[in-house]
Amino acid sequence: MSKLDGQIVVVIGGSAGMGLETARLARAEGAEVVVTGRNEDRLKQAAAEVDAFRTAAFDATDPGQLQEFFRRFEGPIDHILVTAGGPYYGLLEDLDLEEASKHIGMELTLPLYVGRAAKGKVRGSLTFVGGTGARRPGPGLIVTSAMTNAHPALIAGLAIEMAPIRVNLIAAGFVDTPLSARLLGDDLEKRRQQLRDTLPIGRVVGPQDVAALAVHLMTNTALTGATYDIDGGQQFVPR
Ligand SMILES: NC(=O)c1ccc[n+]([C@@H]2O[C@H](COP(=O)([O-])OP(=O)(O)OC[C@H]3O[C@@H](n4cnc5c(N)ncnc54)[C@H](OP(=O)(O)O)[C@@H]3O)[C@@H](O)[C@H]2O)c1
Repeated sequence: MSKLDGQIVVVIGGSAGMGLETARLARAEGAEVVVTGRNEDRLKQAAAEVDAFRTAAFDATDPGQLQEFFRRFEGPIDHILVTAGGPYYGLLEDLDLEEASKHIGMELTLPLYVGRAAKGKVRGSLTFVGGTGARRPGPGLIVTSAMTNAHPALIAGLAIEMAPIRVNLIAAGFVDTPLSARLLGDDLEKRRQQLRDTLPIGRVVGPQDVAALAVHLMTNTALTGATYDIDGGQQFVPR
């Protein structure tokens, strides 16, 4: 029997990157997968690729749209992975403080909105994605660093209040996804090579690596309230 046979897995932010690979792996493990994202074309393509049984196009950072998605969702959900969101980089002197404030609000409340909306619907686990890259403060990391350090506490709190639903956080370093390609532009290949040369694992972490961890967190019922680093040792090498 496959690990997720007959289970319903919802991936919020499942049309690219780590979410898409998790949807693919969950499907291969027997799950019925639901993928969401904002861009409808990308979503359709991803759904066809992973043989999703349902899709929904909405902005997960909009509480109204998020709540409506869960309200309309018929039937129970076994596991939810949330990858929607993104980093917010900038030096103090350059930051748009209104935007920074919105971003901070979104980063801190998205897990709360998901937790509340999913309560009563989800019966297995909730997994969120954060990072390890900004654990150490550095120029331009002021906002992302604060969010990175806040996420584990938020997830532990949710795990306590949502028990027996399990809630965990994946903390990724550089992962070779479309997001990384967009952020790095022409410097992508240089960064990949730098990571191959410096990471203890001697290779770049890919979205399939994160997918394997996400499915493990869905299926290992001993895991809750914790943060799981997946960065190939990146946090231990100089930037
Ligand atoms: N890649 C890395 O190195 C890395 C490292 C640490 C942490 N992370 C975090 O991990 C998460 C996933 O990253 P990734 O690299 O897999 O990104 P990605 O390649 O850009 O994929 C993100 C997926 O989420 C969807 N999405 C993004 N914002 C959304 C929103 N507001 N509402 C609904 N769907 C949304 C995207 O589709 P649409 O754009 O069509 O909505 C896409 O399907 C992000 O939160 C990122 O900050 C990434």
